[in-house]
Amino acid sequence: MLNPTHYQVIDQIAIITIDNPPVNAMSFDVRQSLSKAIDQFNSDVSVKAGILICKGRTFIAGADISEFDHLPFKDPWLPEIVQKIEDANKPIVAAIHGSALGGGLEVAMGCHFRCAIESAKFGLPEVTLGLLPGATGTQRLPRLAGAKKALDMMLSGKPINAKDAFNCGILDMIIETDLQEGAIAFVKEILDIQTPIKRLSQININSNGVSTELFNDYRNQIAKKSRGFFAPKQIIKCVEAAVELSYEDALKIENSLFLECLNSDHSKAQRHLFFAEREISNIPNKSKDTKIREINTFAIVGAGTMGCGIAMNFLNANIPVTLMEVSQEGLDRGIDIIRNNYQAQVSKGRLSQEQMEHYLKLLNGSTDYADISNADLVIEAVFENMTIKKEVFQKLDGACKPGAILATNTSTLDINVIANCTSRPEDVIGLHFFAPANIMPLLEIVRGDKTSDDVIATSLKMAKTIRKVGVLVGVCFGFVGNRMFLPYVREAEHMMLEGVSAKHIDQVACDWGMAMGPHAVTDLSGQDVFFKLNDEWEDQPDDPNYFRICKVLFEMGRYGQKSGRGIFKYEGRTAIEDPEMADIARREADELGIKQREISDNEIIERMLYAMINEGALILEQGIALRAGDIDVIFCNGYGMPRYRGGPMFYADLIGLKQVYETINSYRERYGDRYWTPAPLLEQLVAENKTFAEWSKENI
Ligand code: 3HC
Repeated sequence: MLNPTHYQVIDQIAIITIDNPPVNAMSFDVRQSLSKAIDQFNSDVSVKAGILICKGRTFIAGADISEFDHLPFKDPWLPEIVQKIEDANKPIVAAIHGSALGGGLEVAMGCHFRCAIESAKFGLPEVTLGLLPGATGTQRLPRLAGAKKALDMMLSGKPINAKDAFNCGILDMIIETDLQEGAIAFVKEILDIQTPIKRLSQININSNGVSTELFNDYRNQIAKKSRGFFAPKQIIKCVEAAVELSYEDALKIENSLFLECLNSDHSKAQRHLFFAEREISNIPNKSKDTKIREINTFAIVGAGTMGCGIAMNFLNANIPVTLMEVSQEGLDRGIDIIRNNYQAQVSKGRLSQEQMEHYLKLLNGSTDYADISNADLVIEAVFENMTIKKEVFQKLDGACKPGAILATNTSTLDINVIANCTSRPEDVIGLHFFAPANIMPLLEIVRGDKTSDDVIATSLKMAKTIRKVGVLVGVCFGFVGNRMFLPYVREAEHMMLEGVSAKHIDQVACDWGMAMGPHAVTDLSGQDVFFKLNDEWEDQPDDPNYFRICKVLFEMGRYGQKSGRGIFKYEGRTAIEDPEMADIARREADELGIKQREISDNEIIERMLYAMINEGALILEQGIALRAGDIDVIFCNGYGMPRYRGGPMFYADLIGLKQVYETINSYRERYGDRYWTPAPLLEQLVAENKTFAEWSKENI
């Protein structure tokens, strides 16, 4: 057995140190060794008090999430440890640096006092894993910080800083010197003045201002903010129990709801994403010697909505950026877009006026390529048209210094063609941001055939700097996200021809959990954009049904939200069903010989998702995405797929690939081979009884 907990005595104080890199997660070894250390502490008559502290970059960052797939937990499980600490016969102080998260904060709340350095963070992020704090956290935090603060922290999952933690009662002291020295001084003071031990399980909750209405308010809030998620409702139930029942009875509720959450598909999906989002930085065959290029100066070419959104990512990370346009008028318009976006945030109270001025000072404008000749990274965000993109890249090739990274924000076009029109294709890469670019976390990093490893590594690092989730993908039409999104929308559109209303299809997608229905999305991006996007695709299916509605709407000038009418009619940004759409769909269906019929909600969701999953299987076997998990990360960070579904490939694994395969075959019988031939990889995995996740592990 490993022994990650060390016991040492200094000045009659036991220093119990956990050393379990990288983040001191409470694995079985830590729990077992900590339990033994507490036994030693209790029986050690030479010590008067103890300090629980951690080595490395952080205090305990939570339970070990990788153990959650291997139930039952090995004893001692975490709540037992927390109680054992609280029951200790002498005071124990938690000394915190880095982050005390989840089970880490719960252990700290088992201690009788807590001190921390100023940079420390405190949080119960279990909700982000589809869980609730299940090691007495739902009972202890309301006792320590009040029911409202506890609900805010547990429902958002967001950590708070040391000052906030001190003000709300979580911390007893902020230490300004060395943590261990400061903690020892704090313990000595406690002993000197004989501060009574605080055992939270024995303290009553302050129920001032805590009423049924408060809990109902929180229920209403999460109905909107956390639509569809299971864990938030359970968290509220636990805090309600904390207020209404004895500690012991309420703890039974916490325990049973924690297990319910843990075994739910929601939590499995969210845990999958936790690891998948960390795995994206793991690039196979990357040499350890790959250097990161130094990038300090940034430029964006194209001051349209996309270019401005991209620029804002850099400004938000306090990085100066030069925005370039060909005309002064276009540049002024772009700078206005950025100012207006920030102004809207100021009006909503999300940004101070001072912060806005600071960001705007970091923004430079130019209409001359010479002004960006020194940039280390240039991102082109001009109109989505190959001829225009090529022109821009030839100019960049002539103007930019050697070693500069030249990136394109194309969402579909061939990066290799763009790279090959320069004299330095190894410096060219795709950086595909998602609209609205200043908000959506996803960044597809598209590697061309000749893109050099250091350009890829630098781009992945840059993504982290500007707080984007950067996923490396290969070149094909639409890369991963848009290539898989097209079959999803194709089926949604086709079902309109078959007689289902757009509103109903969107409702089914939203009920499944999507942030927006497929038709609301195409109307938002623009029917013109989808029409042109498909038009640019050289291998577009030779099929008169393919995106037929989109084509008709484009010809009618019904572009969507921007023209006030697309698939829906718009009052401001509110979509209203347009009865004319049913007539258009019927007319087109008649012309195409499509029979209208009743379609069940189950078929609606299956056709959209299974078409997407089948494309995902093709993408995997072609090596366009490295792992099934990468595809899931893309859909949950750029396409509004709910995290509790875990992404399309995880969802397929969960349903079972055999069922997905058989259903795809049943659609093949009805609709033919063109769209419904199962991907060879899907067929292979069904034969081998494997999942996409298993295949990804074996093939990386
Ligand atoms: N369990 C297992 N592994 C964990 C972990 C955890 N709680 N937290 C982090 N790791 C692993 C990561 O997977 C990663 O592994 P890798 O290097 O092999 O990819 C490594 O530790 C480093 O993590 P990050 O890359 O995320 O490191 P950062 O420095 O960027 O962030 C952090 C550090 C803020 C601590 C972040 O890792 C984090 O948020 N961790 C999760 C915190 C959390 O959710 N805690 C609650 C767990 S559930 C719980 O406690 C239940 C309880 O109530 C019963």
